[in-house]
Amino acid sequence: MTYFDYLSYAPWPSPINLLKDLERSTHVTQTIIQKLDPGQEQVPLLPQLNPPYWEFGHLIWFHEFWVHRHGKESNPSFLSQADTLFNSSIISHNDRWLAKIPTIDILMSYFSEVMARTFTILKSGSVSPEQAYFIQLALYHEDMHNEAFAYMWQSLGYSWPLEHPHRSIEDHQTYFEPRYIRIPECQLQLGSAQNTGFIFDNEKWQHEVSVPQFSISSHAVSNGEYLEFLKSLNDAKISSTDHQPAYWKKEGNDWFERFYDQWLAIDLKAPVRHISAQSAEKYCLWKGVRLPTENELSILMASVSEQWQPSSLWEWTSSTFEPFEGFSSDPYQDYSAPWFDGKHRVLKGWSKFTPNYLRRSQFRNFYLPSRRDFFCGFRTCLA
Ligand SMILES: [Fe+2]
Repeated sequence: MTYFDYLSYAPWPSPINLLKDLERSTHVTQTIIQKLDPGQEQVPLLPQLNPPYWEFGHLIWFHEFWVHRHGKESNPSFLSQADTLFNSSIISHNDRWLAKIPTIDILMSYFSEVMARTFTILKSGSVSPEQAYFIQLALYHEDMHNEAFAYMWQSLGYSWPLEHPHRSIEDHQTYFEPRYIRIPECQLQLGSAQNTGFIFDNEKWQHEVSVPQFSISSHAVSNGEYLEFLKSLNDAKISSTDHQPAYWKKEGNDWFERFYDQWLAIDLKAPVRHISAQSAEKYCLWKGVRLPTENELSILMASVSEQWQPSSLWEWTSSTFEPFEGFSSDPYQDYSAPWFDGKHRVLKGWSKFTPNYLRRSQFRNFYLPSRRDFFCGFRTCLA
């Protein structure tokens, strides 16, 4: 299969559902951007940040480029210079701080015009597979950028302008004592099969892998458990600063965690978050356990959830982000292929900012193992 795989990502969602999802995401994006206080759109040049107005322009451009310009620069944009300004494949990270970003009024009307055109298509009720694919791609891309806004606002200590997601255990979940679940040797169907709806290219295609028996924790590592590790480093007179979760501080004997613009006492039972894969591995070494592989975590996440507790965090694995055999890029070629560089790690799960439809057990997220600014945590396997 080739470049045109995407035309086979049926069944397609109904236009009415797609419209509902897109209206919701559009509302989220608009609220985030509109509620920035004057001056907050200026952010320091750091690897994990983007200038917010640039990121806003980029997600509009992406939507327009794939849904309305058919992925061709020769089809003109509503906004002059849009390709040079907002194509993330062309404009380097540093140059995003130097770019002459249009005013917020111009960006807002660009956003409204592009979205209005898509809403018209969806309201017509007649949507081709090609349109359904690219509208979904643009919607999920927008959702991912909305999530990137969420962790960027957390990094910057800005207040979060939307409903506050709960900070510890998932809503309506009952707490039970953590334990290790023994999973016997089994065959795993890894990746996504054809005709299972929208997928990303890195999920192609479903294939069987055999996984030796393993034991995996029902819960992600908690703040309390992680604190024990930090104490052990201190006791051994080893600096714990590098391994401290981002946004923690100690006052007297008490630890606090910053959640957006508020400092809160650490909830010892809640999953520890904002931990790099490197720190997670140090913890494992200390505890005599290990990180799960992508296959192992995929098995857990595809299993009935009464047995394990989701963490509402992206969970690190020990697996490098690699293509499955027979991989081919979909039209947005920079989604996965540039990141098969041997440096990125696979993460599974979702954060509280991930919409339900992206919380699929086949979904593969990937980050550099040094990152800890996004909503990430980990669980462990017996070594
Ligand atoms: Fe993007």
